[in-house]
Amino acid sequence: MRMVKGVCAMAAGLTVLAGPQVAYAADVSPDTRANTLTAMHGEAFAHASYLAYAQEAERTGEPEVAALFRATAATELDDHFTAEAELIGFVGSDVENLEESIAGEEFEATVSYPDFAAQARRDGCAPAVALFTELAGDEAAHAGRFRTALEAITDPGSGAEIPTGEVVEPVPIRAVQPQCSGQTRENLYETLRGEAFAYARYTLYARAAGVPRLAELWTNTANQELGEHFAETANLYGLVRTNTDNLRHSIDGEVYEATVMYPSFARHAAAAGDAEAAALFREISFDEADHASAFLRALVGLVVPGGGEDQVRPVARPAGDRAQSTRSR
Ligand SMILES: [Fe+2]
Ligand SMILES: [Fe+2]
Ligand SMILES: [Fe+2]
Ligand SMILES: [Fe+2]
Repeated sequence: MRMVKGVCAMAAGLTVLAGPQVAYAADVSPDTRANTLTAMHGEAFAHASYLAYAQEAERTGEPEVAALFRATAATELDDHFTAEAELIGFVGSDVENLEESIAGEEFEATVSYPDFAAQARRDGCAPAVALFTELAGDEAAHAGRFRTALEAITDPGSGAEIPTGEVVEPVPIRAVQPQCSGQTRENLYETLRGEAFAYARYTLYARAAGVPRLAELWTNTANQELGEHFAETANLYGLVRTNTDNLRHSIDGEVYEATVMYPSFARHAAAAGDAEAAALFREISFDEADHASAFLRALVGLVVPGGGEDQVRPVARPAGDRAQSTRSR
């Protein structure tokens, strides 16, 4: 049966992967799988960006706007990203997840970040050279810890112990001017998306981990990807601007997802016979419309004199409410 497990879990309000080693069937078409991965990258980036925008709103005395960004960020990760991961069987066994993690970290450590550092040198952006060099070193350390964890699990007699990783202090993200241009600016953007995705991926791996120390390793690594790597990159890229700019940019993204991306993915999934995927994409498109609407109300509240904080009403629902709320549509 195709993907029924994931959809049934959502209907029961269980959109967060629960318990150890939860793996779902993954017999969607290759196109639907590719579209789902594209959507997951967008969800992970929206989650990380909204948390960054929330910091700026908090810092500038707009706690209602900050709360809206945080609630929406939670929906993007705990509902949308998680449901899409379930749809395609994204989370495997601990061993499979470690192998995926090692491959990703090694690629970043030995290929992408060294290449980005070399390009930043050619572009004359010294802070980006330093950043990409630091990231390459950190990702090599991540790969090493995951390799040790894999050995501890697959060869208990080896004496290897699962490392728990490094606990890092989150780097504040601030509204700053972009510091690099040209290809390096593009590479910084790609880094933001990759680090946001790594955070989301490892968070799901941690939730599904069958061993507490492994869950701790994935959680600590995820926190470094988001709290340090994404944050430092955001401060070079100039991701965060004013609250009104951040809201406008978020509205643009939500409208695109609600009216272009998810409807297109739903049509393609339906044509490929992936009915459950089509239903999920349709449901999420309505959620994104709700997000756009809530951000628009918050924006009006900020720009209209005396607009009032009562205009800022988070509509993001707890994970699991989506199936019930969309049935009435
Ligand atoms: Fe979303
Ligand atoms: Fe990493
Ligand atoms: Fe990273
Ligand atoms: Fe959204």
